[in-house]
Amino acid sequence: MRTLITVLLMAAAASALADSPMFTSRAAIGSLSGEQIYEHICQGCHMPGAQGAVGAGAYPKLVANKKFVSWEFVALTVLNGRSGMPPFGQPVDQAQSRTHLTDAQIADVVNYVRSHFENKYKTNVTAQQVAALPHPAAELMGPQ
Ligand code: HEC
Repeated sequence: MRTLITVLLMAAAASALADSPMFTSRAAIGSLSGEQIYEHICQGCHMPGAQGAVGAGAYPKLVANKKFVSWEFVALTVLNGRSGMPPFGQPVDQAQSRTHLTDAQIADVVNYVRSHFENKYKTNVTAQQVAALPHPAAELMGPQ
């Protein structure tokens, strides 16, 4: 009887896990375009239209941003974070997790912000170029 209960509990837990947003988000994020990544992740801080915000924290506006001349600056910011901004890159020596953006997704969002919001940089950054930049160290990241 006890074994049966354990089996039932495990089955219930497994199906709850399969239904949880955490479990499905990887696939969902994986299919997002640069624009959608901006809307789902970046916009929460940098605001719609990339206008930025000043309040409890300061979120720089990304509109007509002269620093964007350097795609490496933008990509390194997304990969490794910057002061109040968390890192979104996949930590080195860790299997791909659901909570980070792949190099291809980072390339997509970098291309998006550099060619929108009055930024006119058309260079097409590739996943390979992002992969060649330093990624976050595993120990900087919280538990997965
Ligand atoms: C949790 C809030 C938050 C999120 C989410 C966020 N950022 Fe930021 N971002 C910040 C803050 C705060 C700064 C300012 C960091 C500093 O002190 O230099 C910043 C800075 C930047 C900068 C440098 C701007 C400059 O002029 O120095 C870029 C580029 C940037 N973010 C892009 C992005 C992109 C692209 C995303 C989505 C993948 C994103 N951010 C998501 C908070 C956030």
